[in-house]
Amino acid sequence: MHTSLKCAACGRDHAVDQLQNLCTDCGKPLLVGYDLESLRSTFTPDVVRSRATRSMWRFQEVMPVEDMSQVVSLGEGQTPLLRCRDDGAFEGFSSLWVKDESFNPTGSFKARGMSAAVTRARALGATSVALPSAGNAAGAATYYAAAAGMECVLFMPEDTPPANIIESVVGGARVHLVNGLIGDCGKLVGQGRERFGWFDLSTLKEPFRIEGKKTMGYELAFDLAADGRLQLPDVVFYPTGGGTGLIGMWKAFDEMQQLGWIGSERPRMVVVQAEHCAPIVRAFEAGADSATPFENARTVASGLRVPAAIGDFLMLQVLGESDGTAVSVSDEELLNGVHEMAAGQGLYLCPEAGAVWAAAKRLRESGWLDSSERIVLFNTGSGLKYNHLFPSGELVTLDHDDPACLDILA
Ligand SMILES: Cc1ncc(COP(=O)(O)O)c(C=O)c1O
Ligand SMILES: [Zn+2]
Repeated sequence: MHTSLKCAACGRDHAVDQLQNLCTDCGKPLLVGYDLESLRSTFTPDVVRSRATRSMWRFQEVMPVEDMSQVVSLGEGQTPLLRCRDDGAFEGFSSLWVKDESFNPTGSFKARGMSAAVTRARALGATSVALPSAGNAAGAATYYAAAAGMECVLFMPEDTPPANIIESVVGGARVHLVNGLIGDCGKLVGQGRERFGWFDLSTLKEPFRIEGKKTMGYELAFDLAADGRLQLPDVVFYPTGGGTGLIGMWKAFDEMQQLGWIGSERPRMVVVQAEHCAPIVRAFEAGADSATPFENARTVASGLRVPAAIGDFLMLQVLGESDGTAVSVSDEELLNGVHEMAAGQGLYLCPEAGAVWAAAKRLRESGWLDSSERIVLFNTGSGLKYNHLFPSGELVTLDHDDPACLDILA
């Protein structure tokens, strides 16, 4: 259970026993703290390994929960870390891994954040949640709210993938399409929350989604453990919109060090964005400590269509502290990345993850990546949600009554 809620920018403390959004002083995100010193003797990797809990909640001591009976879980987390083959397009990558978040409930990593946020919101008495979403967060929020017996109100850009809209409608959310981008949807949540009594679950405007997403960082250390010792990869590639997972994983590494589980070693973190929506890449290249909104943002990778992110300064801090970098790729490259991973590795990635593979190739070519380095790519969601981007082309229907129907294969 957490013991503090501090503003990431001004450090002001906020009460942990009531619903909170942004810092009441400066409007920046709040970060959750734990009494890690007192956990050191009882909360160990072996304790985590010995648990029967089949979800991210096996890290319960560093999660926002007082009592496990409060948890709203659909079995999120504990996703596989898959090793890639190193032939064909993958030659030169001798230790390439995919953390496959498509195994999560509703098919994306958003399940982790929503499980944590809905758990805490319900424990503090919320009955209705609202959020803007690029797609996958909407699907996840819908199903966690349903599991919690709460109302879910969604605002999505009208060009959100049909699969995300349909899953949300089926799950009983109140779905509203908006003729704008995710920021415009967020403004509507802000306008409606007082009036209709919704609790705002927008990413980083609520402190606990990050706590769910940080479990990706804890899991990496367990996935790569050798002889029982936790280990981190050399490089992590993350498809970045709001940046919650990136900031969350960095927080997890820090917590693990304070718990005495790992040392000061850290992976280099790589932010990957789409060419026509790359505010963090642009700010990183300019050496800035915050980002300006990206004009005319567009990309088929809907999760990357975030022209302005409230956690911009935190993402840029992570890049600086980790000696990382930021890369943007074109839509053509990221779609090609999906095809290569599908045919070459047997993984149907979301286009956001097609982008990280495309970025990894780019950084390998430039020499930024070494062939022996252990590299983790995040597949943040299932490609199945994006079938609309991949028309199956001209397929021939065979007439099975025609004895010569296989002749065209010869
Ligand atoms: C599949 C997918 N990948 C990546 C992202 C970006 O995630 P984050 O907000 O943590 O940067 C999203 C967000 O919608 C997404 O749906
Ligand atoms: Zn503040």
